[in-house]
Amino acid sequence: MTEQILLRMEGITKAFFGVPVLKGIDFDLHYGEVHVLLGENGAGKSTLMKILSGAYTADAGTLALDGQAVDLQGFNPRAAEDIGIATVYQHFHLIPHLSVAENLAMPMFTREGGAVRWKEVYAHADEALARIHYDIDPKTQVRHLPVSQKQMLEIAIALSKNAKVLILDEPTASLSRNETEILFEAIAEIKSRGIGIIYISHKLEELKQVGDRITILRDGEKIATLPSDGAEVDEIVRLMIGKELAQSQGVESLAIDQNLFRVEGLQSEQIASPISFSLRKKEILGITGLVGSGKTELAQAIFGVDKLTGGATFLDEREVRIDSPQKAVALGLGFLPEDRDADGLCLNLSVKDNISLALMSKLRGFFFDTAAEKRTVLESIRSMDVKTTGMSQQVQYLSGGNKQKVVFGKWLSAKCNLLILDEPTIGIDVGARKDIYDLIRDFVAENDERGVIFISSDMTEVLDVTDRILVMAGRRIVAELDPKQTTKQRILRYSLQANKAAE
Ligand SMILES: Nc1ncnc2c1ncn2[C@@H]1O[C@H](COP(=O)(O)OP(=O)(O)OP(=O)(O)O)[C@@H](O)[C@H]1O
Ligand SMILES: [Mg+2]
Repeated sequence: MTEQILLRMEGITKAFFGVPVLKGIDFDLHYGEVHVLLGENGAGKSTLMKILSGAYTADAGTLALDGQAVDLQGFNPRAAEDIGIATVYQHFHLIPHLSVAENLAMPMFTREGGAVRWKEVYAHADEALARIHYDIDPKTQVRHLPVSQKQMLEIAIALSKNAKVLILDEPTASLSRNETEILFEAIAEIKSRGIGIIYISHKLEELKQVGDRITILRDGEKIATLPSDGAEVDEIVRLMIGKELAQSQGVESLAIDQNLFRVEGLQSEQIASPISFSLRKKEILGITGLVGSGKTELAQAIFGVDKLTGGATFLDEREVRIDSPQKAVALGLGFLPEDRDADGLCLNLSVKDNISLALMSKLRGFFFDTAAEKRTVLESIRSMDVKTTGMSQQVQYLSGGNKQKVVFGKWLSAKCNLLILDEPTIGIDVGARKDIYDLIRDFVAENDERGVIFISSDMTEVLDVTDRILVMAGRRIVAELDPKQTTKQRILRYSLQANKAAE
């Protein structure tokens, strides 16, 4: 049945600085199939896809597309595009100060050169956006778009290239349910045209819905390929991590009956109706709601990213004015933003420098204490199991999930008192997620003057991790719930009901 094979990779091997990352991987893709690629953070998924898209050169191995051998040694992104391989990378490649339409037309510009024909640019944009049935104003500058819209735009760009093979590296990481559905519809339509799709995701629950076959990588080796029909999630997880996943047991709240932080009637440029809530000492407060419900806007208002237009903020019942992120940091706040690449890291600095940047203010003194710095950095790399070749490795070369762990480690080792975490487990594998939950608990357990605001649209995780849940919808808090007494369905009902009321 060779005629149904669209693409075949064999014996793909790759090492970085002598460290093997891919150890002889065989992988194939059928016409009109979605083949899901799974594995822990750092397993080698993105690296394999970067070889296929010409971004990296394989050390050894072969590739055939449509039965034609492709020379992997002379391969590059342009050559990959020419033979019909389109990629949506794990991190954005958009040009922030250009408009949506200009970003969509970029492949046109770079290929043809010459004068810009604006009519064509806009026609192209309309067509590309219509193809995914998605509504964004083509004239908006990309830097003003929320993460989810940037993601949809990346997908629209890849789809507009009329590829034979489409690589989607964690396309739904920051998409809402609705947008995910739009993407899945687009995928079904693409499949029907015989295009093959390689799909990487850490959201195990969506794999069966979207995938035909699943291939699991572990530490650079291929562990198994199986049909997604009938595959059990527990079995998949076991293959991924090489052991059973420890069951989480409900943990008692550590919160004590004193406020660490309180906002009264908070309003900002993005939050019109006043918001009030409090966070107790040693409490992990969950804030959930659908994408677009105002969770990120609330975090940005608290951390001084957005200008406040009303209300008061209290730390330890003392009024404070947080009018800039610098002020927030000086007051002991830390913020893990949702858009990690843009906001969280200095990509060309090392793992060590990124973590110690946040430490600077703590390890004060005339001489910067390098021994203490090294100790703290090593400790946080170890506690989170960050996969690096060493702490001087540049952050840009870490795998997606490991980058996130560094941002997280940066704030944990800064030993701030109030941590605001916006979607902290996006792109983190199932095993590492548990480590992160434990670290958050340890963080509040260590000291009475601490608390965490845990923002997530993953309602299951909010139920598992937090001591109290605020549900947001339409940029308001619509419910306060006890995780021990509530269900996912109930949270969802609140998020949706309020949306209807606001319409
Ligand atoms: N350019 C590079 N230089 C050095 N090491 C690299 C480079 N690119 C990837 N690596 C290393 O290769 C390993 C595999 O990374 P890869 O990005 O393929 O993982 P992944 O499976 O996509 O993980 P994630 O789920 O976190 O995205 C990691 O240990 C990473 O640090
Ligand atoms: Mg990756």
